[in-house]
Amino acid sequence: MIFYGNWKLNKTTKEVMEFFDSFNNFVTAEKICFFVSPALIQTAVEKSKFPIGAQNICYADFGAYTGETSIVQALDLKCQSVLIGHSERRSKFFETDEVVNKKVVLCAPHTECVLCVGETKEQLNEKYQVLEKQLFTALLGIEKQSLQNVIIAYEPVWAIGTGLTPHVDEIRDTIDFIKAILKSKYDVKFKVLYGGSVNSKNVAEFKKIDNIDGFLVGGASLDAQSFEDLIKA
Ligand code: PGA
Repeated sequence: MIFYGNWKLNKTTKEVMEFFDSFNNFVTAEKICFFVSPALIQTAVEKSKFPIGAQNICYADFGAYTGETSIVQALDLKCQSVLIGHSERRSKFFETDEVVNKKVVLCAPHTECVLCVGETKEQLNEKYQVLEKQLFTALLGIEKQSLQNVIIAYEPVWAIGTGLTPHVDEIRDTIDFIKAILKSKYDVKFKVLYGGSVNSKNVAEFKKIDNIDGFLVGGASLDAQSFEDLIKA
């Protein structure tokens, strides 16, 4: 299974070193990656036994984009994955589906992309339409070969950092829907992760969902022991 940690805007270089001093001792066959802020990529790559990814990437690959990080730089730093369209990027930095699309177009030919989609609380009644639009817009114009590099993270916005989660049946149905519409449109079998308040206590239930490929974990990935417990649960 896939267990990806999203550290958001957390940790100093010292804390990154301390995390991997502990977590590097963890022996596991699961697929793991940590999405860290651009300022920590170099330290994390040097210190971690596990792959490191970028939390966000500019929609252009170079030029007059003050404050941004490019896919060229992220790959240069040995990032092995990029997180695109996280709900915090969408809500706090006004990223539209069209901007998300530009980023996937730029990154997917070169590296693994974790594309985040999810409905807000207000959109719950129209969840499937919202997800379909987010997915189809984000993946517009991407060649089949590059689509194989895309992993979907289904993260209901109302579940992120709130301690709330959908019922396991709802997660199963939503993942079924995502896989089915993508298979029929692109003839590609996408992997789908669930994210939103996953922790070492509730993850065992979620692992039983037959169509789930793994998890994108925020808060519970920040502490080495708690992330290890979650993966082993
Ligand atoms: P959370 O965050 O696990 O803290 O809810 C998940 C995410 O934002 O990817």
